[in-house]
Amino acid sequence: MRTLSNVLVTGGAGFIGVNFIHTLLNRTPAFTGRIINLDALTYAGNAASLADIEKQFGNSNTTGTARYFFEHGNICDRSFVETLFKKYDIDTVVHFAAESHVDRSILGPEAFIKTNVMGTFTLLDAARAYWQNSNTADKLFHHISTDEVYGSLGETGYFTETTAYDPRSPYSASKASSDHLVMAYHHTYGLPVTLSNCSNNYGPFQFPEKLIPLMILNMLEGKPLPVYGDGKNIRDWVYVEDHNSAVWAVMQKGVTGEKYNIGGENEWENIKLLDTLIGIVSEKARLDPVKVRGAIIYVKDRPGHDRRYAIDCSKIKRELGWQREVSFEAGLEKTVDWYLANTAWIDGIRSGEYQKWVERNYGGRG
Ligand code: NAD
Ligand code: DAU
Repeated sequence: MRTLSNVLVTGGAGFIGVNFIHTLLNRTPAFTGRIINLDALTYAGNAASLADIEKQFGNSNTTGTARYFFEHGNICDRSFVETLFKKYDIDTVVHFAAESHVDRSILGPEAFIKTNVMGTFTLLDAARAYWQNSNTADKLFHHISTDEVYGSLGETGYFTETTAYDPRSPYSASKASSDHLVMAYHHTYGLPVTLSNCSNNYGPFQFPEKLIPLMILNMLEGKPLPVYGDGKNIRDWVYVEDHNSAVWAVMQKGVTGEKYNIGGENEWENIKLLDTLIGIVSEKARLDPVKVRGAIIYVKDRPGHDRRYAIDCSKIKRELGWQREVSFEAGLEKTVDWYLANTAWIDGIRSGEYQKWVERNYGGRG
């Protein structure tokens, strides 16, 4: 078991990072260290999602035992990143920060190359420089990646850790590139790294451009439900807390230089998922499901739309003893409940750049 003391979380104000910080500080007694959250607060980042954490664990808490520090900055900014390594004596990096939305990468790839490739390089190189004369046994750089690096599956088969990379969107190409850099820093410089490739996450705090929260909010607002192509693309869905418990297992026990696939073993065609979601939202929000189903519209397909993702996660189960805890039904219910209860968060995150972007690119469809 590793001792993790001063943990630099990048992208901790985004969907998965926010959930990770909540879990680590509130529900993980084995973690007694500090979290330093480095986030640029792009359209997808929201510091308000961590207001409770700031209050309880931040600098302003009254006990003088702060364990949470927010640092507003860009992972591409080398001198700022170096300052943070020194200031907090960072021994662990969990690298979530990224441009994460495939549609945006198609409309504007440059930000993806900057953040996902150059940003990851900057962090790796800063970690190498800071840790170069110290014992790397108690250091770790954990990189969060995606199953999209493996490309698209046909009707059968699964992605394993040895599946050849075949990224097909600017997003997945930028993530594949970052994965290769992470492994190159391990093999070339001996940097202690681990890497995980996860399938589609869902749950609280997810930005409403991604399928599940977008559809929930459109249902509640009586808007069209846009399905790409024939709706038969398949994704493997995992509840965000199950992803994060897997990340924590890798951070504690993962072998350096190894990669681990994480997935929900839970494949759904988009259109079938939407049908199930309509049932849940209609019941909870007292909507007429027939009317909600009538709002489904088939729209132009995403260019290069990967047909099917499915993860074989037997390695992490076998070697690290990880297992999922949240069923899809329970996870969807929790997610819908959360979006129904958190209208202020939704209004806040949609009030700025995102709405302008939706208007520009989709004419207000989102
Ligand atoms: P997100 O878009 O919700 O959040 C990304 C966060 O990174 C935001 O807080 C944003 O402000 C921050 N950020 C972006 N550019 C930055 C920069 N240059 N410097 C500092 N901070 C920056 O993303 P997410 O869904 O939480 O995904 C987190 C990670 O998990 C990503 O690396 C993504 O590729 C990976 N991942 C996501 C999923 C998924 O289904 N969401 C699945 C597998 C892997
Ligand atoms: O597989 C992991 C990846 O999952 C992560 O690496 C990405 O960061 C994350 O965004 C997600 O990528 P997807 O492209 O699979 O997620 P998205 O929610 O954008 O779309 C899920 C599926 O739903 C996909 O087949 C496209 C389809 N879709 C999406 C939207 C937004 C629609 O049919 N209509 C929509 O409006």
